[in-house]
Amino acid sequence: MSENREQISEIKRKISSLNLNEKVFDGIDLTFGQQLYERGKPKKYFESTIELFKALGGKNIVEIGCMRAPLRHPIAELHSDCCNDGHSTYFWSLSGANVESVDICPNAVRIARESCKEFKNCKITRGDGIKFLEYFTSRIDLLFLDAWDVDDNTAYAENHLTAYLKAKPRLNKTNIIAIDDTDIGKGGKGRYLVPVLMDDGYQILVKGRQTIALKEDGR
Ligand SMILES: C[S@@+](CC[C@H](N)C(=O)[O-])C[C@H]1O[C@@H](n2cnc3c(N)ncnc32)[C@H](O)[C@@H]1O
Repeated sequence: MSENREQISEIKRKISSLNLNEKVFDGIDLTFGQQLYERGKPKKYFESTIELFKALGGKNIVEIGCMRAPLRHPIAELHSDCCNDGHSTYFWSLSGANVESVDICPNAVRIARESCKEFKNCKITRGDGIKFLEYFTSRIDLLFLDAWDVDDNTAYAENHLTAYLKAKPRLNKTNIIAIDDTDIGKGGKGRYLVPVLMDDGYQILVKGRQTIALKEDGR
């Protein structure tokens, strides 16, 4: 990715404050009200991630876990009862980047394809995210991990770490990893992954509803 240092520093500063006033939940059994009205929402994280991605000259986005809630309003609007998942695939596609999204659930794939049908730059595949990454051969500038739901007695945190490890050989030297649901269950989907990213030299720009991690070539 190419560089524009001042602009990038400014975006990083903005990202670092995305979690201000956001609640963090140790548990995972949130009430309906907590889910909808107390948690931070993904929208501002997507918008800032895309800003950073563009400033870095990124071209390719890979997403594990596509949008599963239909988009029935302008993307600029935020509705608590609709936008808690985030409509991620639409945001990524709107950026103009090459988007590859994968989801194991046929219904989620159907909804995402229908919602993003206007975008020629978006390809949505049905399948397991880890297998998909094993066979993926293109370069990745932004990896968004938002698949295995945060449920008791499931390996959601391990699976998100495994997905990163599978993607690692394909990540460009400068790259962004974004993870959703890191504000619940003591780190949620990023519980095992975020410490590994730190060991791998990533800067954790923010940790809130989402975690955004940046690795910069030569830094
Ligand atoms: C929280 S939703 C994704 C929300 C979406 N990223 C958004 O912002 O609107 C999680 C998705 O991950 C998918 N998923 C679960 N296990 C998966 C797997 N093994 N491989 C790929 N996708 C998976 C689910 O089917 C579900 O659609």
